[in-house]
Amino acid sequence: MIPRCVYVNGRYVHYGAARVHVEDRGFQFGDAVYEVCAIRAGRLLDLDAHLARLDRSLAALRIAPPLGPQPLRHVLREVVQRNLVRDGLLYLQVSRGVAEREHAFPDPAVSPTLVIFARPMNMEHLDARAATGISVHTSPDIRWARRDIKTTGLLGNVLGKQSAREAGASEVWFVDGQGYVTEGGSTNAWIVDRRGVLRTRELSQDILPGITRETLLSVIHDSSLEFAEVPFTVREAQEAQEAFNTSALSFVTPVTTIDGVRLKGPQPGLVAMGLRQSYLNRVDSV
Ligand code: PDD
Repeated sequence: MIPRCVYVNGRYVHYGAARVHVEDRGFQFGDAVYEVCAIRAGRLLDLDAHLARLDRSLAALRIAPPLGPQPLRHVLREVVQRNLVRDGLLYLQVSRGVAEREHAFPDPAVSPTLVIFARPMNMEHLDARAATGISVHTSPDIRWARRDIKTTGLLGNVLGKQSAREAGASEVWFVDGQGYVTEGGSTNAWIVDRRGVLRTRELSQDILPGITRETLLSVIHDSSLEFAEVPFTVREAQEAQEAFNTSALSFVTPVTTIDGVRLKGPQPGLVAMGLRQSYLNRVDSV
């Protein structure tokens, strides 16, 4: 669905009229960071954690924050309201700014470019996807070595997602040189292994520190589930009791098939569906 209005560098403009410069460094170099937040009943979910990660991404690339924390929160609320979004998503991108093309940082520094929009999403469709579960396709992880920074340099993710689509799957799982799953194209990857242990890869420069992952970990710590931050191979995932993905836009979504192999046992799994509900209860209650 098309947003009505977009915030671009201090102005709220009509979606069709929103523009950034041809020499914006986000456009030329992917020299930009972004965040995606879910909006549920008009509220931005996990907002504090998303803004904290935005700060970390900006600091890692030495891009100055375009707005202070309070003005930024004000603009985010305005964008949600002006777009009349009850259930949907918010997209925020900050690039290093506009400068004559030259790889090293502009000197003196230029003002960063800030773009924010919000659009409604069909929640019934997302719930239906979770209720049936999805298929994933695996692919070598060809991305750069700092996947912990949420940059718009997503070509590896784009190609991985496209390979999944062409294989009839709806998400890609990237696999490192040792055969272990790193994460999904736009999700973190989890399994409930054969012994019933909930597993996801530990944080490092290999994966994005997902906000949904972080919130779900606090839900898991409050539960009796056995959990370990230990990576898993594709084979272990195919032999697992359950598998699922997490992200701001898909919450917790069960995976039922990996490279054409359907997981044994009743799918979608009870642990994944239970965690989806617990995650939604947690974010709705704060
Ligand atoms: N993607 N890993 C990657 C590579 C991602 O792009 C994302 C999020 C995640 C999950 O992170 P979080 O729980 O904070 O959404 C993991 C967003 C949704 C996107 O690019 O659309």
